[in-house]
Amino acid sequence: MSRTELTRGPEGTESAGAELAATLRPGDVVLVSGELGAGKTTFVRGALRSLGVEGPITSPTFVVGHLHERENGSIAHLDLYRLAGMGAEDPGLLDPFFNEDTIAFVEWPEHAEDAWPAGRVAARVRLEHAGGDDRRIAIER
Ligand SMILES: Nc1ncnc2c1ncn2[C@@H]1O[C@H](COP(=O)(O)OP(=O)(O)OP(=O)(O)O)[C@@H](O)[C@H]1O
Ligand SMILES: [Mg+2]
Repeated sequence: MSRTELTRGPEGTESAGAELAATLRPGDVVLVSGELGAGKTTFVRGALRSLGVEGPITSPTFVVGHLHERENGSIAHLDLYRLAGMGAEDPGLLDPFFNEDTIAFVEWPEHAEDAWPAGRVAARVRLEHAGGDDRRIAIER
């Protein structure tokens, strides 16, 4: 199933993230694609907020990911932008982010194919610039 939505500012994209988050279960992996500045982190921020993550939510830049601990299963937020080609050197690098009770959001998933258990991908999100503050968000489930 796939649906597309147009948002007119960051708040709308955060809401879309929260809406998807409400359907997720422990262990789910969400792949979030789109060009630089398309709104991937904004989408994930909305999702993480609604899942109870507090504090600043930014794109992990100098580390591959953040693991937000919660009582009912951790939430992982990865950004694989700088990982291109490095995955094979340390195959276990990403494992801590994909525990079976962790919900994981992955920005730039195309930079590390097969880094997560394939059967756990619950949704694929694609964001596109659509002029100004407009963004097109396609969610495939
Ligand atoms: N409709 C919108 N949805 C999302 N972000 C928007 C929208 N309109 C404007 N913006 C702005 O666009 C920027 C999107 O940045 P964001 O960090 O979410 O993108 P990104 O895809 O994660 O980029 P990167 O690939 O660098 O990690 C933010 O400054 C945000 O406020
Ligand atoms: Mg980002």
